[in-house]
Amino acid sequence: MSAIQTIFTILLLHVSMAVSDPAQESFLQCLSAHSQPSPPISSVTFYPSNSSFTTVLQSYIRNPRFTSPTTPKPLFIVTPTHVSHIQASILCSKIHGLEIRVRSGGHDYDGLSYVSEAPFIILDMFNLRSITVNMEDESAWVESGATLGELFYRIAEKSKIHGFPAGVCPTVGVGGHFSGGGYGNMMRKYGLSVDNVIDARIVDVNGRILDREAMGEDLFWAIRGGGGASFGVILSWKIKLVAVPEIVTVFRVEKTLEQGATDIVHQWQYVADKIHEDLFIRVVVLPVNKKPRQTIKAKFVALFLGTAKDLIALMDQSFPELGLQREDLIEMTWIESVLYWSNYPTGTSPDVLLDRQPQSEKSSKKKSDYVQNPISKKDLEGIWKKMMEQKRPALTLNPYGGKMSEISESETPFPHRAGNKYKIQYSVTWREEGAEDLNQNLDRIRRLYDYMTPYVSRSPRGAYLNYRDVDLGINGVGNASYAEARAWGTKYFKGNFDRLVEVKTAVDPDNFFRYEQSIPSLGFWTRVMAQ
Ligand SMILES: Cc1cc2nc3c(=O)[nH]c(=O)nc-3n(C[C@H](O)[C@H](O)[C@H](O)COP(=O)(O)OP(=O)(O)OC[C@H]3O[C@@H](n4cnc5c(N)ncnc54)[C@H](O)[C@@H]3O)c2cc1C
Ligand SMILES: *[C@@H]1O[C@H](CO)[C@@H](O)[C@H](O)[C@H]1NC(C)=O
Ligand SMILES: *[C@@H]1O[C@H](CO)[C@@H](O)[C@H](O)[C@H]1NC(C)=O
Repeated sequence: MSAIQTIFTILLLHVSMAVSDPAQESFLQCLSAHSQPSPPISSVTFYPSNSSFTTVLQSYIRNPRFTSPTTPKPLFIVTPTHVSHIQASILCSKIHGLEIRVRSGGHDYDGLSYVSEAPFIILDMFNLRSITVNMEDESAWVESGATLGELFYRIAEKSKIHGFPAGVCPTVGVGGHFSGGGYGNMMRKYGLSVDNVIDARIVDVNGRILDREAMGEDLFWAIRGGGGASFGVILSWKIKLVAVPEIVTVFRVEKTLEQGATDIVHQWQYVADKIHEDLFIRVVVLPVNKKPRQTIKAKFVALFLGTAKDLIALMDQSFPELGLQREDLIEMTWIESVLYWSNYPTGTSPDVLLDRQPQSEKSSKKKSDYVQNPISKKDLEGIWKKMMEQKRPALTLNPYGGKMSEISESETPFPHRAGNKYKIQYSVTWREEGAEDLNQNLDRIRRLYDYMTPYVSRSPRGAYLNYRDVDLGINGVGNASYAEARAWGTKYFKGNFDRLVEVKTAVDPDNFFRYEQSIPSLGFWTRVMAQ
């Protein structure tokens, strides 16, 4: 089929599916023909005409920005309960020229797991979320639709001295999180989630189910940080559990400019990536309206894999500037620290980790940067001023070093290892509605990001794939698309981008698994254009 024919078929299908049932019928027939009879795929397929379509669609939209009536909607949603439902969805989407968006926890910052400009379906993995923890070899198999909260809960249920290094937000899905890297407050001790993934099962473009041995080391490398959705549908991951002490210590300390925040944040830059790897001190910096005038607040939040006594000694020696007191410290179990880091009040039951809906939700836009050299006090003051002018965004500074510096840049697709002091997450959130607010907020974060250019990594300016940012660029159409993709791809992957392209070209030459920031298949557009 030529490109024009393909586009025409897609348009035709789009129109006919919207207005009449025959296309829907024929698609459902295709799905049924390619999946096991029981449980029937029709019982897990939601069309706009099904009364629960909107509920199912919105259940895992984690950025309310993308719930508006103008957001493009899928033609239908398959919520597989059996692997054959996934195989059939892939095969039938290929036959009918539709795109697939795979969604696990739905936390993609720019909504790429459930929004597309092309006619598309959603494969929503939430039913496939079993977790099997094996204490004998200290490992676990986790299905993609599980959340981090469920995983942490199931580990803690079996052992007080095991944990897993992953994100600090319990509703994040392991499907997207692990395939984009996955970091949390044990990163300086154990690296990223992907550094602790030892096997995986994936359904490829031909509907085959492959484990690590069957997929080979190249594909297994690519899905651990390169973004799963460029390569197939990940069914499950096998992870290696890590050791945590029975008692860990946490603290949360806030300093305003008047309380010396600038000096302390300045000093933090020299300490946080060098200090003992059992200690992770994050800083959240945000403008606050404190009468009579605006100020900046720096919140220091920490996890220490040890006792309060040892932590006080360490802080007195390495970071006295923070002025930490014994009463700032709280000792608890590792699973309690997970709740603490998610802002639950002390004493909350770990059962809340099984809630799949977040505590609160706002519309947002986020961006990321890597800092390799400390920023001077004067320049920090300039940044605070810029933030106060804009009334936001907030910055979250996450220290690197430790284990992160010991792993080579090419070990996984995630390249931001030695040489990085910390990562910045920029974040604007809002509750207002309306295009005007949206544009104002996007402007605010983009202006601050531009302002930060002299202080962050360059050539390429690094970015974290799991902090999805379509501002970095999206895939185009035609011969130039590889060069365009390289521009955003090297920000996320540096030199690993080319190896990802090689793997993609080998496993999905026809570029079926595509989206705004999918890895391009080399020669695909040249072949399409030449036909
Ligand atoms: C509130 C919040 C807190 C966060 N905290 C952290 C944090 O502490 N640390 C951190 O590293 N990140 C964090 N993130 C970012 C998060 O890791 C990414 O958004 C991640 O991709 C989310 O995974 P998901 O399954 O929930 O998302 P989804 O939106 O479902 O998926 C994200 C991407 O992965 C693809 N994908 C999903 N499932 C599969 C699958 N089974 N097979 C193939 N492709 C798949 C999607 O198509 C999409 O491209 C946070 C995000 C939010 C919104
Ligand atoms: C959606 O509606 C169709 C047609 O009425 C029906 O066959 C199908 O079972 C419904 N899907 C679900 C999940 O209820
Ligand atoms: C794209 O590449 C093909 C094959 O090399 C070539 O024939 C065609 O002219 C190119 N098209 C454009 C727009 O450059």
